[in-house]
Amino acid sequence: MDGSLPMTAFQPALKSARTTTEAYIQHATQDLHGDLADAVRYAVTGGKGLRGFLVYEGARLHGIDAAGAAPVAASIECLHAYSLVHDDLPCMDDDDLRRGQPTVHKKWNETIAVLAGDALQSLAFEWVTTGAGSAQARLELSATLARDAGLRGMVGGQMMDINAETAAEPLTLEQITLLQAGKTGALISWSAMAGARMAGADTGPLNIYGDRLGLAFQIADDILDVVGDAATVGKAVGKDAAAGKATFVSLLGLDEAKNRASQLVQEACDALSSYGDDADCLKEAAQFVITRGH
Ligand code: IPE
Ligand code: IPE
Ligand code: MG
Ligand code: MG
Ligand code: MG
Repeated sequence: MDGSLPMTAFQPALKSARTTTEAYIQHATQDLHGDLADAVRYAVTGGKGLRGFLVYEGARLHGIDAAGAAPVAASIECLHAYSLVHDDLPCMDDDDLRRGQPTVHKKWNETIAVLAGDALQSLAFEWVTTGAGSAQARLELSATLARDAGLRGMVGGQMMDINAETAAEPLTLEQITLLQAGKTGALISWSAMAGARMAGADTGPLNIYGDRLGLAFQIADDILDVVGDAATVGKAVGKDAAAGKATFVSLLGLDEAKNRASQLVQEACDALSSYGDDADCLKEAAQFVITRGH
């Protein structure tokens, strides 16, 4: 996790994705004032912007430019930010630090954090239908986002994650895989597939890529919780074991979890063979996911 792999196209593309997405959100909310609007903008700032990046890259592979993809990238970054604001609440993971800054309920209060999360989720569904693509494609984007964010996806996974803290028996590998596919994988897969959906193209390769990437991403998050330091990671570390979270690291140990993550990244990259060199940036993104320090 030293981030020392040589990166070429990926880092500038990630930065540009993040800048475009944040600018879109700032511009679209500039008429909104007050604590709640400020909390919403605060919550979508300072992250890596990986999910938005996946939207732009998937869109680019299917001939859709950044302007056409920006509302969809903004949408998934809002949905993700909402999940984090609620994840940090005292009734969930009870965290004070996020992206190196106080969490929303610490900077403001719990009422604002709950409502900012709610507002971010609504913004996601407002913007997801306003990107490039046919009416049918935009309908599909919206319906799949609702599914992948909800009971069958992120929210369902979050519930399994919390339940695991007090489970009588440690979760099996299969159960942890299911939990992580929901809480983290669903939104990452959705992001990876969004460009193909916007273009009405086959989502098959990006589906496999997103599925493997999502799992590798959460394994890396769990590894960082064990080996990372809070200043670099930008959030508290050492909390998963203390809370009795079910993770690949808790079940397999660090080395085996790392092996599993590398294997998944290989599978993610292999799935993109039909795109040839055009998918190099997405392949670099997959390497980044398991070598990142935050
Ligand atoms: C953190 O996601 C939460 C998980 C799903 C593990 P990220 O690591 O993508 O968070 P930001 O957006 O870059 O802060
Ligand atoms: C959170 O997982 C995933 C979602 C917010 C859906 P974690 O609880 O592991 O994320 P961090 O470590 O707080 O970022
Ligand atoms: Mg959590
Ligand atoms: Mg958490
Ligand atoms: Mg974590």
